[in-house]
Amino acid sequence: MKTYIIILLLILTNITNADSLYFSHLEQATIDAKLLKETEKKLQEHKATQPIKFPTFHQPNKPPVKIERFCTLCHNTLAHRKNIAVRSFLNAHSRFISCETCHFLPKNVSLTYRWLQNDASIENEENTHLQPHPAAHLSPFSQGMPVVLFPKHSFFQKIKSKWKDLPNSEQIQLTAKIHAPLKEKGISCKSCHDADQKMLELARIGASQKQQQAIEQNKIAHLLDKDETTIRLIELLD
Ligand code: HEC
Ligand code: HEC
Ligand code: HEC
Repeated sequence: MKTYIIILLLILTNITNADSLYFSHLEQATIDAKLLKETEKKLQEHKATQPIKFPTFHQPNKPPVKIERFCTLCHNTLAHRKNIAVRSFLNAHSRFISCETCHFLPKNVSLTYRWLQNDASIENEENTHLQPHPAAHLSPFSQGMPVVLFPKHSFFQKIKSKWKDLPNSEQIQLTAKIHAPLKEKGISCKSCHDADQKMLELARIGASQKQQQAIEQNKIAHLLDKDETTIRLIELLD
């Protein structure tokens, strides 16, 4: 009996201590001198630019649901600015898709995507809104475990509460580590918006037949896909 309890305890502590896949990639990242130099430059530029404040055009009836996410500890929730053609779409998607879904795609790892709200994924029924809860984000899971870093994680807390007081050299090192496992340019629109897409199990995340078609055949996404070389306006009309 005793051994069973000990084994059970071991399993349980293992589950609660199991690290996010993103964090283990971050920890294992090797940072060379060249990357450190580049990061130093980026960080300097970042500190020199004043954050832009966007006045709200529409007054929302309810204040937006605020949830803590690792990436937005440093990035604006409207994180995309550079590519004018797609930035508003990317920023709109960030309200219901985790940053990691588009920026963390490790090689040789199979990830699944589910709605994530706090610590538990949500199952949902067919409904008009795909997003089951205003604060739920489509997030990557590896072997059933969320990949993202949660607020209770010690690394999350370190960045949240100590970042500003860290010496510059440590900030550079950490910024390099945080971004080493990430894909700088994100993924193409067609990763999700294509009849042949394999990324999202649309029925499994609650999309009705109609929604599945609307997502896969989305004309705007086809038009703005970064792998498309020419934009054919005629395609919007048929
Ligand atoms: C500790 C602060 C911090 C955290 C946390 C952070 N970033 Fe960054 N990120 C930066 C800085 C600083 C830059 C460089 C300057 C810039 O582009 O704003 C940057 C740049 C980027 C870039 C542009 C690519 C590049 O190398 O310039 C991407 C993409 C990005 N971050 C995504 C993310 C994602 C996704 C997360 C969460 C998994 C994240 N970041 C977490 C500070 C952070
Ligand atoms: C739907 C997919 C998607 C989501 C969700 C997403 N990104 Fe991106 N991100 C991209 C793509 C694609 C690019 C490349 C855009 C380009 O330059 O063509 C990009 C570029 C960036 C850049 C480069 C700078 C810039 O101005 O474009 C940063 C920084 C960034 N993302 C951070 C984030 C953060 C932080 C989040 C979460 C709040 C996030 N992204 C969520 C797809 C996404
Ligand atoms: C990670 C998957 C993913 C990527 C990448 C992605 N989308 Fe989407 N997009 C979705 C999903 C899921 C929906 C459906 C949201 C809903 O109906 O609630 C959607 C909805 C949309 C809509 C319809 C919005 C509405 O409310 O009707 C447009 C337009 C769109 N995406 C454009 C784009 C463009 C342009 C890109 C590339 C810059 C892109 N998407 C990249 C998953 C993605």
